[in-house]
Amino acid sequence: MALVVATSIAGAREAMEVAPKGGSSRGLVPTMGALHEGHHELIQVARRECDWLAVSIFVNPTQFGPEEDFDTYPRDLESDLARCRQLGVDLVFQPGRDEIYPATHRTFVEIETVTSHLCGRFRPGHFRGVATIVLKLLNILEPDRAYFGEKDAQQTVVVRQMVKDLHLPVNIRQVPTVRDTDGLAISSRNRHLGLRERKAATVLFRTLKEIRTMVLQGARDAGQVRRNGLRLLSREPLVQVEYLDLVDPETMQPVSRIQGPVRAAGAIRLGRVRLIDNVLCEDRDG
Ligand code: PAF
Repeated sequence: MALVVATSIAGAREAMEVAPKGGSSRGLVPTMGALHEGHHELIQVARRECDWLAVSIFVNPTQFGPEEDFDTYPRDLESDLARCRQLGVDLVFQPGRDEIYPATHRTFVEIETVTSHLCGRFRPGHFRGVATIVLKLLNILEPDRAYFGEKDAQQTVVVRQMVKDLHLPVNIRQVPTVRDTDGLAISSRNRHLGLRERKAATVLFRTLKEIRTMVLQGARDAGQVRRNGLRLLSREPLVQVEYLDLVDPETMQPVSRIQGPVRAAGAIRLGRVRLIDNVLCEDRDG
């Protein structure tokens, strides 16, 4: 099937009428565009698992704070469409702001507890915006499965909580983080890094890996592990640390004793660029 590009909700629904029905599965990869290797992987996994696949491209204003990078967030529609065509996507839903948030819009989705730490603490209102747009996209495109990247693990937990609480008939799939050869998690914001910053940024994944090693070697005091991690990050003078925490992977609450799987998560700033990453520290042999 040829790629359909819809800029209106009515257009997307019309395109969905030709989608296979009855026992076949529909997939959605929600994105903010400027598609990179991380999105590529999400789309490929979704393409393999679903009979019909939509990708949404919408830089969602409500998930950016007033001082954040909404205006400078990368936008690259032509190459996004080429990538979607190449990957066999059926529908690109690329609405304008007024289609999603008309002047009469009044409803937002607020999710408690799982948003109280990590990015939720440092980006007030961010997950309210994310949950609101994701719920809208799920309602508009009615997928059976929706795909999210593990780099934004807290986002996946927030979306799963919403899906459970609101009884939404969709399966939320999380796809492993795609990394550059030096370990840096692929992100749309990497393109704003200068050469020296790009090199310095690798300290975040190195630190998270070091934390995972400490945990797998038996460290139990999360505070001590965290302090060791902060010491590693502080060796990189270009990096400002926003947070580094060890959290319960289900609830996203910080732990003090490590007694089961934990997720080590960090956010750093290099100049005006903010980067996040995380790793699951889990002893798979028990
Ligand atoms: O992860 C993202 O790119 C965004 O937060 C999402 C899920 C597309 C919502 O705007």
